[in-house]
Amino acid sequence: MTETGGGKERVRLGAVQETLFIPLAERARESVRRRPLLRDPKAVKMIARIDYAVDKYGPSAGSRTTVLRTAIVDTWVRAFLAEHPAGTVIEIGTGLNTRFERVDNGSVHWIDLDLPDTIDLRRRFFTDTDRRRMIAASVLDEDWLRTVEECPGPYFFVAEGVLVYLPEEKVGEALTRIARRFPGALLALDTYPGWLLEKQHEAAERKRMAARWAWSCDDPRSLERLGLRIVETAAVTRPPRALRTQLPFRYRLFLPIAHRLLRGLFRVTLFRT
Ligand SMILES: C[S@@+](CC[C@H](N)C(=O)[O-])C[C@H]1O[C@@H](n2cnc3c(N)ncnc32)[C@H](O)[C@@H]1O
Repeated sequence: MTETGGGKERVRLGAVQETLFIPLAERARESVRRRPLLRDPKAVKMIARIDYAVDKYGPSAGSRTTVLRTAIVDTWVRAFLAEHPAGTVIEIGTGLNTRFERVDNGSVHWIDLDLPDTIDLRRRFFTDTDRRRMIAASVLDEDWLRTVEECPGPYFFVAEGVLVYLPEEKVGEALTRIARRFPGALLALDTYPGWLLEKQHEAAERKRMAARWAWSCDDPRSLERLGLRIVETAAVTRPPRALRTQLPFRYRLFLPIAHRLLRGLFRVTLFRT
């Protein structure tokens, strides 16, 4: 990372790695609303520090789906920690996510996994501690699983906004590996139907964004053949009850309309391995 004229840090990331700015910018934007769904002051600071392509990755005025997805996963992770305060959460494709900051209970163990250039950037803003560490690796590698085994169980794996960029066969292999090595673990991931891939490709083309979605999943039940069992699944426009009751008024107003329009396209599912 080098400093530009405006005092901002310039970053060099791969095409898929750069997509970390999409959720980061959404969380920063949400955080400065009067009644935010979630607060992420660190995202606000990081966005202010980094010189990134706002035209490609900046927050879109209308979209709240990414923040909703993140809030649903936060709810699931908090419920896991309420039962297992010293368990381990593994954030796969973490980007500059600050879930640890949002849910830390003082005893959880945490692993943030991402590709080397993303972890290089992440290290500018986060440091390892006795309960928390970063791993520079691909989810498609195997070595990092050994590091997870060294942490206390039970385990909660989160793969938010990452698997969609990977080839189907590789996603299947990675999920199967996790299911076999960590029976009884929780795993949360987001899925998108096949026809939406083409729409994302068109939108990416328009924005000159090189990252393309590669993996689609029309029905999360199809992943049960990999050794996963659905615990809960939710369209991001219809969050689980635990979160729905806490939604700011603005969300309660627009979500039923968004749900009718989007027909549950953006889905997040919690599995047990
Ligand atoms: C859209 S961002 C999501 C970031 C984060 N999960 C969040 O919600 O803020 C996608 C992330 O996946 C990471 N990624 C892409 N391919 C990966 C791989 N093979 N293994 C691990 N991480 C990967 C990227 O570096 C990037 O940080």
